[in-house]
Amino acid sequence: MGQVPQTIYGIIGDGRVATHFKHYFTLLDLPVRTWSRRAAKSDPRQLPEQLQYCDTILVLIQDAAIVPFIQEHPFLKTRTLVHFSGSLTTPLAFGVHPLMSFGPSLYDLVTYRRIPFVCDFGFRFQEVFPGLENPVFEIKPELKPLYHSLCVMSGNFTVLLWQKMFAELETTFDIPREAAVPYLSRIASNLIEDSRGALTGPLQRRDSETIERNLEALESDPFHRVYRSFVDAYRETTGGHA
Ligand SMILES: NC(=O)c1ccc[n+]([C@@H]2O[C@H](COP(=O)([O-])OP(=O)(O)OC[C@H]3O[C@@H](n4cnc5c(N)ncnc54)[C@H](OP(=O)(O)O)[C@@H]3O)[C@@H](O)[C@H]2O)c1
Repeated sequence: MGQVPQTIYGIIGDGRVATHFKHYFTLLDLPVRTWSRRAAKSDPRQLPEQLQYCDTILVLIQDAAIVPFIQEHPFLKTRTLVHFSGSLTTPLAFGVHPLMSFGPSLYDLVTYRRIPFVCDFGFRFQEVFPGLENPVFEIKPELKPLYHSLCVMSGNFTVLLWQKMFAELETTFDIPREAAVPYLSRIASNLIEDSRGALTGPLQRRDSETIERNLEALESDPFHRVYRSFVDAYRETTGGHA
C-alpha cells in the first residue's frame, strides 16, 4: 500500500502569527513553505512558484489586506485558503480564528496544542488540518463580530489596564512592577477556577462611596472614563447599585 501524500501547508506573511504557526507546524513535523513580501525582495521567485506544492495556504497577513491580496493573486484561488482574522468573513477564504494571544516569544508544543480554533460554520477542520488535534468550535458568520469584540475586550483591554497599573506603580509610587505580579496571578487563577465568584472590590461590595473616591482620584486621567464606563456597564448588566 502506498502512503497517503502529506499535505504541504503554505504560510503567507511573516508577522507574529505567521512566525508562531510556522514554528508550531515545524514542531509537529508538518511540511510548510512560506512567502512574505519582505522575503520576496531578496528571493526573485514569485508566489505561485514558491507555494506551488501547497494544497492549503494560510493567509496570515493584516486583516484589511487579506481580501485585496487574494484578489491580486489568481493562483491562490486554486488552493484551499484559510485566514485567521477573528472579525473578517469572506467567501474567498475560510475563517479559522486561534483563540490565543501571540506575543513576541514563541511557545512550546503543549501551549500550541491547547489553542482552540473558532471556525466559520461548516468548515471541515479535520479534513484540512488532519495533523492538528486542537479543540475546534464553529460560529455563525453573523455572530463573528460579537465574538471578536469579546476577545478584544477580555484579552486586549485587560492588557491596557495592566500596562497602566505597572507604569503607575513604577513612575508614581516607585514600586517595582514585580510587586503586583502575585495580584495578577491570583486574579487569573480565581477567574479560571470560579469566574462567577472572582470579582472582589467596591463594585462587588456595592460600595458607592469608595467608587466615588476612586473616580475623584482619577479626575484628570483618561482612565477616569474607563472606570466610569465599567461602573455603568456593571450596574446595567447586574441591575445593581454598585
Ligand atoms: N496577534 C495575535 O495575537 C492574533 C491572534 C489571533 C488572530 N490574529 C490574526 O492573525 C493575522 C496576522 O496577524 P499578526 O498579529 O501576525 O499581524 P502582524 O504581526 O502585524 O503581521 C502582519 C503581516 O501582514 C503582512 N502584510 C500586511 N499587509 C500586506 C500586504 N498588503 N501584502 C502582503 N503582506 C502584508 C505584513 O508584512 P510587512 O511586514 O511587509 O508589512 C506582516 O507579515 C491577522 O488576521 C490577525 O487578525 C492575530
